[in-house]
Amino acid sequence: MDANRAPSTETAQLKDQVAAHAAALVPDGVILGLGSGTTVRRFLVYLARRLERGELRHIVGVPTSEATAQHARTLGIPLTSLDDHPLLDVTVDGADEVDPELNLIKGRGRALVREKIVALHSKRLIIIVDETKLVARLGKGPLPVEVLPFGAGAHLRWLRSLGCETRLVCDEEGRPILTDNGHYLVMCYFPEGIPRPEELAHTLKLRPGIIDHGLFLDMADQVLVGTRQGVQVLTRNTSP
Ligand code: A5P
Repeated sequence: MDANRAPSTETAQLKDQVAAHAAALVPDGVILGLGSGTTVRRFLVYLARRLERGELRHIVGVPTSEATAQHARTLGIPLTSLDDHPLLDVTVDGADEVDPELNLIKGRGRALVREKIVALHSKRLIIIVDETKLVARLGKGPLPVEVLPFGAGAHLRWLRSLGCETRLVCDEEGRPILTDNGHYLVMCYFPEGIPRPEELAHTLKLRPGIIDHGLFLDMADQVLVGTRQGVQVLTRNTSP
């Protein structure tokens, strides 16, 4: 879903519930990766309330998008960069899809490259989602892929050769919307979902012009899920 599109009231409540839960778990003194999207927007609001109340005094965040940076600044959350803090304690981010192994699709809000970089530099990645994001197999919805504007038509054709339909993300006038990094975003629709995400991730990474993709495999440590029965905590099984 586009990060700017309003979710249904019930989904919004579940996002709110899980965002509040995650913000309450943040200990003081941490360097925190700040994800992107509507769930994280709510998380930032709850985090700011804890700062205002003096429950948190020494936290600092690394934002994963210009939108998150702007929102955090408005809320008075102190920010830093990966250059100044290359190792983060934890990143809290949203996701578009979560499979039973806690592999993810992320980036429908156009922030996947910075989200992946910040997550890679974090000791822990905590994902916050509402229950509608849980899927049996990744690819129920589109996989976002960030591509270089140069040769965009060729990148789209190549992506279609992988068996998906493509849609370049455009504004209402049909002009491609640029990511924060100045690239295009392509939504890839796989009719049967993505049966072998590792293989696809590998194929995408090798192709010049493909900047990155929204498959986040073996990255999430925990997923907090807002459900009608309360927040459910899923932990990735890291044993071989
Ligand atoms: C942003 O690029 C995404 O990865 C978001 O984290 C993801 O799209 C989830 O967004 P919502 O929290 O808005 O559903």
